[in-house]
Amino acid sequence: MTDGKQWFGHPRGLATLFFTEMWERFSYYGMRAILLLYMVAPATSGGLGLTTERGASIYGWYTMGVYAMSIPGGWIADKFLGLYRSVLLGGVIIALGHFSMASSSQQMFFVGLILIVIGTGLLKPNVSGIVGTLYDRDDKRRDAGFSIFYMGINLGAFISPLICGPLAQRVNWHWGFAAAGFGMTIGVIQYVLGRRHIAEGLARHAAERTEEARVEAEHRVTFTPQEWRRISVIGILFVFSMLFWGAFEQAGSSLNLFADRLTRLDFAGINFPSSTFQSVQPMFVIIFSPIFALLWLRLGSREPSSPTKFAFGLLLVGLSFLLLVPGAAIAQKYGIRVSPMWLIGVYLLQTWGELCLSPVGLSMVTKLSPPKIVGLMMGVWFLSLALGNKLGGYAAGFFDRLPLPTLFGAVAATTLAAGLILVTLVKPIKRLMGGVH
Ligand code: PHE
Repeated sequence: MTDGKQWFGHPRGLATLFFTEMWERFSYYGMRAILLLYMVAPATSGGLGLTTERGASIYGWYTMGVYAMSIPGGWIADKFLGLYRSVLLGGVIIALGHFSMASSSQQMFFVGLILIVIGTGLLKPNVSGIVGTLYDRDDKRRDAGFSIFYMGINLGAFISPLICGPLAQRVNWHWGFAAAGFGMTIGVIQYVLGRRHIAEGLARHAAERTEEARVEAEHRVTFTPQEWRRISVIGILFVFSMLFWGAFEQAGSSLNLFADRLTRLDFAGINFPSSTFQSVQPMFVIIFSPIFALLWLRLGSREPSSPTKFAFGLLLVGLSFLLLVPGAAIAQKYGIRVSPMWLIGVYLLQTWGELCLSPVGLSMVTKLSPPKIVGLMMGVWFLSLALGNKLGGYAAGFFDRLPLPTLFGAVAATTLAAGLILVTLVKPIKRLMGGVH
């Protein structure tokens, strides 16, 4: 497809989008790794000197905004700008946002956050949308293409805390923000230079949309009861998804603070900044996604159904917080920093949870919703992520106000209970799905 050149057996445009999203996620996660730490650091060490409660609340609103904006971002691409220009404009706005935060003015800090929210809303849903245009409807490489793309996401998320983190925590916070901006700038340049590789897919997509609109105008289609049943499954999973991300996305907030304040920051004699822990989870995703893909393949007909995998995701994230309860208890009881192995164990379990739930969530949405409203339903999926992030920020706000074993225990109890409830719902959900797996 596209201009005929291949990249690992995939259309060459996949490489362009892989690196665009890699750099965008580089900037997002590099900045996120230092965001809360910067907000709560005392003014004497260059931070904003906010209370943990206030910092976590801003963190919650910001991370919620980033994903909630995907809904208008997708809509703007559909109605006005098209996919290509939305991604381009989004990337430029994101870079400007990070550079605003590189200045030491407090106002520019907040302007920066708002710009990143708007820019990510324009870029994130639409860059994935363009990946979809690279393949014909029945191209068997489509799923593999998305898996490779997910690797790009995690490669960016893995590298950036190792660069933005030490710059911010060891040199100057604002250098960390600037580094995130540079990353996004490289991504934008690379995207524009590679645009010819995605042109053909985009043109085909535009033609398909025109055709769709024509067919739609001819037959006013309504929902059938079967479709409504499937949509209701998305509604049920929405709630569980929100709870999952509410726990999972505390990586950048409560767990980041746990690393900063209560974890020993050296390994084999080397001392490292606390933000380094933010690289652990994406590293595990890179290691384990091929293993999980192989596992599902090996299991063949015994592969767990989508709702079962969803329940596994919740149970694993619940176990990860349960694991941290004794770690937090030891740290707070004796007033010491505990071994880094606690957090590494937590992130390992969370990654397994993510690999059970996240790919399933996305593909369920595409499989269960009537084609006409796939875009809308995708927005609903992003909204569950947005609300989950808000929930995570809310929980992190208790970091200084509750004993940590209580806080982590509450997160564990909520997600484990949700996972167990979902286990009992697997059968009825499968019935509602009516033949889709
Ligand atoms: N790590 C994922 C990413 O940054 C988290 C995520 C999953 C975000 C699904 C959006 C949608 O892409």
